[in-house]
Amino acid sequence: MAFEIIATGRAIPPRRLTNEDLAKTLDTNDEWIRSHTGIEARHIADDDVACSDLALEAARNTLSLAIERGVCAEKTIEELALTLDLIVVGTASGDYIGCPASACIVQDRLEARNAGAFDLSAGCSGFIYALESAAALLAINKKRRRALVIGSEILSRFVDWNERTNCILFGDGAGAVLLEKTEAEGRGLLRTILGADGSGSEHIMIRDGGSRNAYKANDTITLSPHMEMNGRAVYNFAVKAVTSTITQLLLDEGISIKDVSRIVPHQANARIVQAAARRLDIPEQKFFLNIQEYANTSAASIPIALDELNRAGELRRGDLIMTVGFGAGLTYGGNLLRF
Ligand code: UT7
Repeated sequence: MAFEIIATGRAIPPRRLTNEDLAKTLDTNDEWIRSHTGIEARHIADDDVACSDLALEAARNTLSLAIERGVCAEKTIEELALTLDLIVVGTASGDYIGCPASACIVQDRLEARNAGAFDLSAGCSGFIYALESAAALLAINKKRRRALVIGSEILSRFVDWNERTNCILFGDGAGAVLLEKTEAEGRGLLRTILGADGSGSEHIMIRDGGSRNAYKANDTITLSPHMEMNGRAVYNFAVKAVTSTITQLLLDEGISIKDVSRIVPHQANARIVQAAARRLDIPEQKFFLNIQEYANTSAASIPIALDELNRAGELRRGDLIMTVGFGAGLTYGGNLLRF
C-alpha cells in the first residue's frame, strides 16, 4: 500500500506588494528585507477573500490537473470531488476562530459530499502534519482512498502592519495535493517526522480573541488579533529543527543526502535555509526556494512549492523529495516522498 500525491494545485492572490511598496508607509527598505530574509514581494488577498476561498481555488486547480493529466478515471471536477473521502486544511488563519472549520466550507462548495473535513492547527508545519494525518486516516479504513490535503493562509489579516519586524515576513496563498491510496510499493509518502516543543509556545502567538484572552462586552479593541513573534528565538529554533529533521529522516530511511532530489523547506527566511545547508554541508541549490515572490505563507508554503515544481516538470517518477518545516507551537517536522 502507498499514499501517493497524484496532483497538486495552488492559489495566489493577484495583488502583489513589493518591498518598495511597503517602504512607502513603513520605516523599512528593500535592502534590509532582502538581506535579512530573501523576500522581494508577497501577495495579499483582497478584503472579501477568506482562507476557504483560497483553499477552494487551490483544490479546484488540483482536481483539474488530475483530470488534465489523466491520473484519475473521472472526467470532471464534480465527479472527482465525489470520490474524496477526506479534506484536511492546515491553517492558522481560518475563516472563523474555532468553528466552523474552513475545510467544511471547502467541502460544501466543492460538493465533496462523501468527504469528512477538518482543519489542523500546527502553524507553519500544518501541511507536514496534515499530509501524515491524511495518509494515516486513509490507511486505517479500507473504504477510504482519496484525500485532499490543503495549506491555506491569509496571515495578512493577522499582522500588525505598523510593526516592521513581523509584517514584512508574511504573505497570503494556498496550496493543495490530491493524495491517493494505491497498491504501489516503495512510492508515495515513505516517512514523516512530527515534533513539537510547546515550551516555545509564546514565541509565535496570536494572543487575543481565543478562550485565554477572549473579548468581552464593552471592551475597546484598538488592535485586531495579530501575530506576535520573538524572531531571534524562532530563528534559532528553526535552524536546529531543520538540521535535525533532515538528519533524522536520512538516518531513519538509511539513505544519504545524495539520494534526495530536492528539499522543499518551509519558506520562512532564506537565511534559515542557508544556515542549515552550511551546517549539513548540503549544496544550497538542493533546497527549492520561492520565498522571494511569496514571502512566508505559513502552512501553504510547502504545497505551493510542490505545485510549482510539479507544473515545471520537476517532480519526476522516482524522485525522492523531502519537505521540512517549523512554526507556531512550536512545531517542526518533515516528510519523505518518492514520486
Ligand atoms: O514560519 C515561522 C515564522 N517565523 C520565522 O521564521 C522568523 C524567524 N526569525 C527571523 O527570520 C528573523 O529573526 C527576523 C527576519 C524576523 C528578524 O531578523 P533579525 O536579524 O533577527 O533582526 P532583529 O530583530 O535582531 O533586528 C535587527 C535590527 C534592529 O535594529 P537595531 O535595534 O539593531 O537598530 C531592528 O529594529 O533591524 C531592525 N529591523 C528592521 N529594519 C528595517 C527590524 N525589522 C526591520 C525592517 N526594516 N523591516
